Amino acid sequence: MDHFLYRDGALHAEDVPVAEIARAVGTPVYVYSAATLLRHYHLFDEAISWADDHLVCYAMKAASNQAILKLLGDAGAGMDVVSEGEYRRAKAAGVSGDKIVFAGVGKKPGEIRTALEGGIRQFNVESEPEMQVISDVATSMGVVAPITIRVNPDVDAKTHEKIATGKSENKFGIPISRAVEVYAMAAALPGLQIVGIDVHIGSQLVDLDPFRLAYRKVAELTDTLRAEGHEIRRLDLGGGLGIPYEKSNLAPPSPTDYGAVIRQEVGHLGCEIEIEPGRLIAGNAGILVADTIYVKQGEDRQFLILDAAMNDLIRPSMYGAHHDIVPVIEPAAGVDYQPYDIVGPVCESGDTFAKQRNMPPVKAGELVAFRSAGAYGAVMASEYNSRPLIPEVLVQGDQFAVIRARPTFDEMVNRDTIPEWL
Ligand code: LLP
Repeated sequence: MDHFLYRDGALHAEDVPVAEIARAVGTPVYVYSAATLLRHYHLFDEAISWADDHLVCYAMKAASNQAILKLLGDAGAGMDVVSEGEYRRAKAAGVSGDKIVFAGVGKKPGEIRTALEGGIRQFNVESEPEMQVISDVATSMGVVAPITIRVNPDVDAKTHEKIATGKSENKFGIPISRAVEVYAMAAALPGLQIVGIDVHIGSQLVDLDPFRLAYRKVAELTDTLRAEGHEIRRLDLGGGLGIPYEKSNLAPPSPTDYGAVIRQEVGHLGCEIEIEPGRLIAGNAGILVADTIYVKQGEDRQFLILDAAMNDLIRPSMYGAHHDIVPVIEPAAGVDYQPYDIVGPVCESGDTFAKQRNMPPVKAGELVAFRSAGAYGAVMASEYNSRPLIPEVLVQGDQFAVIRARPTFDEMVNRDTIPEWL
């Protein structure tokens, strides 16, 4: 459920007409609903509240604007970060270090140092060389780094190949078959304190079975490692729960069902439970609003040429992802739908959002909204074709604010430096 609904014939973000935002801020623009973000966070928090100790660490890679982080952080969320930039953003938004987990396969010594200086809940370690570096950095600072080790359970997440992470051929984690050996190595390193196990098998999972399989393996591993004398008190179970991108499709399982699976598989271990959802918190909490520049008649098809392009929302080009695209003015009942190829102005054919998509008739100058664009939308944008990054707006009730301004052309152009010798 989200808060982007037609009211009085016009799409609203909570209580604000989307067209009013477009008028004030221009297009293209990302618009987020605070109520939806909070609702999704609370659903997850409640779904694992059976565990005395539990923390929802929002995977901020999904949407990392500080206003979003502050909103979720103030509601109680921790953060899952994957770079020094994300760590600094989370801190700048007021999240305390003991609620930040640091994931990612390529943490550099400087990043590790920054996190140890500013405070960190744990590093999720992805390899033996990284383990050594974390220990070295911590030792040089005279501190001990809390860690989990990310295990790769070799489970098929049954999702898009570019976002599956839990198979042995993926770059993530250490093979679960070698976990005992690697935990023994970690225990022998002076700068590390083992606090638990981490697993994450992929993103946009629409079936709970792969989660169940992975968590069962983690439960078995917990028993084994405890028998070896390790203190496993925390399980970080990753993110990955999918969202319904197509209104017409069956909805994926809810956070509540997901929480029940976690409880069934690992609830008996008495561990602190952490999860790292990103997409389900932010995805349906954001839309991308674009203007129609031209309607172009091709030989055998009509093109809707929008002012948003692949550089603003790369998911359709990159993953063949579907986003529902709806007119901002509610279509009249019984209107005839027509097929359109919906494209942006960027100079490659890959800049196509949808082919032969049935839409109510759209004219130049009419606004459309891409639904489910809150996660992996603005954060994956680029300036390709020298198109400035587009602004972000947060709505709460009847108020809205620009939470990232559109840069001016000068700001973009003046970032380049021409060497004197040219
Ligand atoms: N934890 C880890 C270690 C992750 O790698 C990810 C996502 C998450 C949590 C959050 O997963 P989520 O709950 O959002 O599914 N750009 C792609 C998605 C990449 C996901 C990367 N890792 C897309 O647009 O579909």
